[in-house]
Order: sequence, then C-alpha cells, then structure tokens
Amino acid sequence: MWSTLIVSGLLLAPCIHSVQWCYQSQYSCDVNCKDPSQWDKAFPECGGQTQSPINIVTQKARHAPHLTPIIFEGYTQTLNVTVQNVGYSAVLALPPSLRIRGGDLPATYKAIQLHLHWGVEDGLGSEHTIDGEQYPMELHIVHIKEQYNTLKEAMNDSVGVAGLAFFYEVSTKENQKFNEVIEALGRIPYNGNSTTLQNFRLTDILPPLEKLSSYYRYSGSLTVPGCDEAIIWTIFQEFFYISQQQLVDVTKQLRFETGHPMIETYRPVQKLNGRMVYKSTACSFTSSGPVILCLCFLCVFRLIESIFT
Ligand SMILES: *[C@@H]1O[C@H](CO)[C@@H](O)[C@H](O)[C@H]1NC(C)=O
Ligand SMILES: *[C@@H]1O[C@H](CO)[C@@H](O)[C@H](O)[C@H]1NC(C)=O
Ligand SMILES: *[C@@H]1O[C@H](CO)[C@@H](O)[C@H](O)[C@H]1NC(C)=O
Ligand SMILES: [Zn+2]
Repeated sequence: MWSTLIVSGLLLAPCIHSVQWCYQSQYSCDVNCKDPSQWDKAFPECGGQTQSPINIVTQKARHAPHLTPIIFEGYTQTLNVTVQNVGYSAVLALPPSLRIRGGDLPATYKAIQLHLHWGVEDGLGSEHTIDGEQYPMELHIVHIKEQYNTLKEAMNDSVGVAGLAFFYEVSTKENQKFNEVIEALGRIPYNGNSTTLQNFRLTDILPPLEKLSSYYRYSGSLTVPGCDEAIIWTIFQEFFYISQQQLVDVTKQLRFETGHPMIETYRPVQKLNGRMVYKSTACSFTSSGPVILCLCFLCVFRLIESIFT
C-alpha cells in the first residue's frame, strides 16, 4: 500500500498538478490529461470539420486575384509589452493600435496577442506544414474584428478572428533583435509569471513587411482547445531567420503548467475535409515567377507582331 503510494508519488513528482488538456510531449508526465487526439472528448469543437493547423499542398492551392497584399497599421510602433507564461505557451499582449486590413479580409482587425509554437532543442515545431514539411518554429499573431472587445466575443463570429502565421527558419547568422524576446522568455519560466518587454517592435521579429505579398489563405480554428472555428488564417511564404542557438534557447527556458519542460508545443495537422486553400497571385510566389511573366510578355508581342505583319 505505502510502497504503491510512494512509487506513484515518485512517478508524478515532476508534475505539479494535472491539467484539462496537454500536448503530446506532456502526456507521459500527466496521463490524466487529454493529448491532442483526445481534445475533442473535453472540447467537442476540436472534433469539428474545419480545424487547424493543416498541411498545405502548394500544387492544390488555388490562385485568388483578390488576395492582395495585407495592409499593416502600427506594426512599426515601439511598444512596452507584457509577456506571460500561460501554462501551455508564452503570450505577448499587443495593443489595438496594431491593425490589419485588405487582403480580402472582411473587416479591419486589431491585434490582441502573439505567441510561438516550437519543437525540442533544434528540432521542428511549426503547426502548419507546407507540402508535408514542418519548420523549426511558427509565430502566430492573433487579431479580432475591431467591433469586438475580447477574443471570446470574436469567437462567436465565424470570421471574427484573423490569424497570421510566420515560419521561423534557422540560418547561420544570429538575429540580434530576437535576443530581447529570448531574454524575456527567460524571465518567465513558470505558469503565471509575467514580465515587460521594453521598446519592442513587432517588425523586429517578422520578415520585412514589403516581402509579405505571397501567402496562403484558408478558414480554420484555434489550434488549442476550445478549437473555435472562427479564424481566417493567413500563412506567409517568407521566412524569418534566427540562429540554431537562438532556437534552442527558446525551447529550453519555459515550463508547462504541469512543471514539465515546455517543448513540442504544436498540434498535429488536421483533415482538410474538402476545404479549399487559396494563394495570393504575387509574382514572387516561386522563383520562376518573373521568368513566366517575361515569357507571357513575349507571347503577347509575338501575337501582336503576327497580327500586324
Ligand atoms: C517604455 O518604458 C520605458 C521605461 O519605463 C519608458 O522610458 C518608455 O517611454 C516607455 N515607452 C513607451 C512607448 O511607452
Ligand atoms: C454570441 O452570439 C449570440 C447570437 O448572436 C448572442 O446572443 C451571444 O450573446 C453572443 N455571445 C457572446 C459571448 O458574444
Ligand atoms: C514565477 O512563478 C513561480 C511559481 O508560481 C513563483 O514561485 C515565482 O515567484 C514566480 N516568479 C516571478 C518572478 O514572478
Ligand atoms: Zn498559435
């Protein structure tokens, strides 16, 4: 009897307490939590038909001319922002002076927060995948329609939330600007800890705004429970680059609410269930884009030539 208690006590020792849902990486620590395959048992919407993330098959994505470049407002502002460990992620609160519109979004949306999804060590950890390929890290910026005050309110509207996704890729060079984010994460190891990140500029941790005209678009959900199906997702093609050491530093500093290292914070890809993925028609979409454009002009010239001679 006592030995059983002691053994189970030892087994549970790294876990501070149990949680309602968890990522796969926590499951071994707290067998009572619901791993991603079981989220729908506690949160029915996680079993819905338009869930996120998804794998994007680039050859099947349909070109859509109305997907013009998104207009970013306030993204270059210098801000003092709060970063909090929320037990399953670290969330950086953003002010409503940061807005997006255009790009076929049905309204203007204001920013509320951003967060990252990562793997373990220098492994892969993005949520969305492109042609089956997962990337080291994925940044999500969450916006809600201007008319709403809270994310909860916006979730009540099937197009109430606009999610922007950026892939982080590893390069040989360190990205100095990203170090301040890493340092802030280091100050909030445990659930509930928060800190202020001073003189933060969103554009410091994004690819250059003028390079963001190429993107994918589809209708999906929050990628954590309750998985509300209220998100217009925009997934940008341009990467943001950090060093391998910076990636490792992000994955090593935080702990889940259960006390387990906060690693592999991504949900596996979900079924498309007949959804269409669209892509913007920006020329830069493939490296061969400009070449094709030139060939087109050549064709037109030949045609005109043949008519008039
Ligand atoms: C951020 O905080 C610092 C130190 O408190 C202050 O000097 C600065 O003016 C603040 N910046 C903004 C944009 O509020
Ligand atoms: C959600 O929408 C319904 C119907 O429009 C409304 O009655 C309800 O108050 C809304 N809930 C929230 C949280 O906004
Ligand atoms: C972080 O959270 C832990 C656990 O709740 C707490 O003991 C610690 O004091 C917090 N640290 C800070 C700097 O708030
Ligand atoms: Zn996310």
